[in-house]
Amino acid sequence: MNYTVVLPAAGSGKRMKADKNKLLLELSGKPIFLYTLEVFQRDPNCDAIWLAVKEQERELIEGYVSRHNITKVQGYAAGGTERQDSVRACLEAIPPCGVVLVHDAARPFIDKEVIERLVETAQASGAAIAGVPVKDTIKKAENGVISETVDRNQLWMIQTPQAFRYSLILKAAQAAHNDGFMGTDEAMLVERLNYPVAIVESTYENIKMTTPDDLIYGRAILESRLQ
Ligand code: CTP
Ligand code: MG
Repeated sequence: MNYTVVLPAAGSGKRMKADKNKLLLELSGKPIFLYTLEVFQRDPNCDAIWLAVKEQERELIEGYVSRHNITKVQGYAAGGTERQDSVRACLEAIPPCGVVLVHDAARPFIDKEVIERLVETAQASGAAIAGVPVKDTIKKAENGVISETVDRNQLWMIQTPQAFRYSLILKAAQAAHNDGFMGTDEAMLVERLNYPVAIVESTYENIKMTTPDDLIYGRAILESRLQ
């Protein structure tokens, strides 16, 4: 099942505490976002890649894309203030298609079988997101004191990719924008339209490069894949 992928890449990486967009930091000699691009370049089911980038970083990113033969990149959208704005800019820029995958450029270790299951599920039911079961005990605290232990059996840590029928996610993204609603992922925008969202079990390796320790895990994952 074919799809178009939208990759928000226009953040600044504040929590990484680097002096530049964290996606440009290198892991084993290659910027993080290139690993992500290569996953989709290699996937025969991926028809097109669209990136949301900051205007001032576009030339640099385009340079990497052409030098590394990422031929599936079909276009760029201007990144917005929030991630949700960057994703919406991309969704409004892409030509209509069947299934759209939204994936953080900061998650370079996504598994291709997970992508396949997400796309198939979204094609069949409209919306499917990647997640992994919560491993730790989860509690709520108020003023430093535990108020509740939450039953973790039904809890998932949500990742990207999140896959949707094109018409559904475009409608949901525009409705959120018009209503001034800000979510922390795309699924929330679809959930508020009372549309069911399926969960697809992903891998714990699909981390988002967010804080400096993630660079250590990232290098370890790359090394383990070379063995
Ligand atoms: N992103 C984006 N536009 C924004 C903010 C984020 O395209 N205005 C992208 C990031 O580049 C990243 C993905 O969304 O690929 C996930 O966001 P996050 O991990 O929060 O990245 P940053 O916003 O860059 O990091 P931070 O929140 O620490 O500043
Ligand atoms: Mg952010």
